[in-house]
Amino acid sequence: MDKLKQLIDKLEETSRLSKEEWIFLIENRSETVAEYLFEKARKWQHKYYGNHVYTRGLIEFTNYCKNDCYYCGIRRSNQNADRYRLTREQIIECCQIGYGLGFRTFVLQGGEDGWFTQKRLEEIVRAIRESYPDCAITLSLGERSKESYRRLFEAGADRYLLRHETADEGHYRNLHPAELSAAQRRQCLWDLKEIGYQTGTGFMVGSPGQTAAHLAEDMMLIRKLEPHMVGIGPFVPHHDTPFAAEKGGTVELTLFLIGLLRIMLPKLLLPATTALGTIDARGREKGILAGANVVMPNLSPTDVRKKYELYDNKICTGDEAAECRTCLNRRMESIGYQLVVDRGDFCQ
Ligand code: SAM
Ligand code: FES
Repeated sequence: MDKLKQLIDKLEETSRLSKEEWIFLIENRSETVAEYLFEKARKWQHKYYGNHVYTRGLIEFTNYCKNDCYYCGIRRSNQNADRYRLTREQIIECCQIGYGLGFRTFVLQGGEDGWFTQKRLEEIVRAIRESYPDCAITLSLGERSKESYRRLFEAGADRYLLRHETADEGHYRNLHPAELSAAQRRQCLWDLKEIGYQTGTGFMVGSPGQTAAHLAEDMMLIRKLEPHMVGIGPFVPHHDTPFAAEKGGTVELTLFLIGLLRIMLPKLLLPATTALGTIDARGREKGILAGANVVMPNLSPTDVRKKYELYDNKICTGDEAAECRTCLNRRMESIGYQLVVDRGDFCQ
């Protein structure tokens, strides 16, 4: 126990652990050590962000994807996925509704869908930028060329989310078909940072084959990249994927890793993800109490929500955006936190 607390103290003081130390800490964690960690995590969360929780309005604008990630419900081989694309007008309407509800960040997320050409994407970003100069525009469109990222940045996007998924090459190959590589995905992250995006990365907790050594590599990669945001959530199986019968990730490990991220890089923007809320009715509240400070409710039109089904039993697919906002407000207030109307930029 003392050794585990010492490692947490060391991480807090120096922001680094060796690979062996990471593995030891993750493999030997306990409830008592987690409480010790979460208290420290909340101290840092309060120091930089007070009791504020930032919201990002998620617009899932296409579920077409050319990729075939084994874990993902909208992978191209899933013949049962009911495919849809939002029009530019529909996307703008989501922003309009979101702005009225107090959202100041819009996240455009989708599969890698060639129908949305560079030109179309730039037009959409430009249109949002013109109408909402006070809002942040976040993109989450997967892997693209540096030139494409740069042009989208120039069109007005300011943030980009691209989870590295796993830092370990071998593990990456177990989760993806051969045409995708961990190195390529990492390169995209360096490109995004260099261009000037506020960059987010992350990974699934408990993805098939994941070990403490892989998680150690994930934490070390994040330390090296120093992103502005890290999204982690449990892997949740989807019934129409090759991983349908695999076990999902746990709330307990996800929370522990959120706490570790908060004390390693105390200014991070850390979402309590929808996946966490899916496997535990109070998952998002627990995430905030473990050190997270962002929630990402859905702004997509209700009739397409169910179709963006990355995993089974995804929550909030039947609710209007306004209901989600009210529900989250209530949830955050119940634990002494407050949803704020703010872009929620990385604290400098
Ligand atoms: N196409 C973009 C990309 O690749 O980054 C954005 C969409 S992708 C569906 C967004 C994230 O969903 C992925 O980075 C992955 O971590 C997560 N995800 C996919 N399938 C999941 C599952 N079964 N359980 C939990 N998270 C999942
Ligand atoms: Fe492309 Fe999941 S496989 S978004």
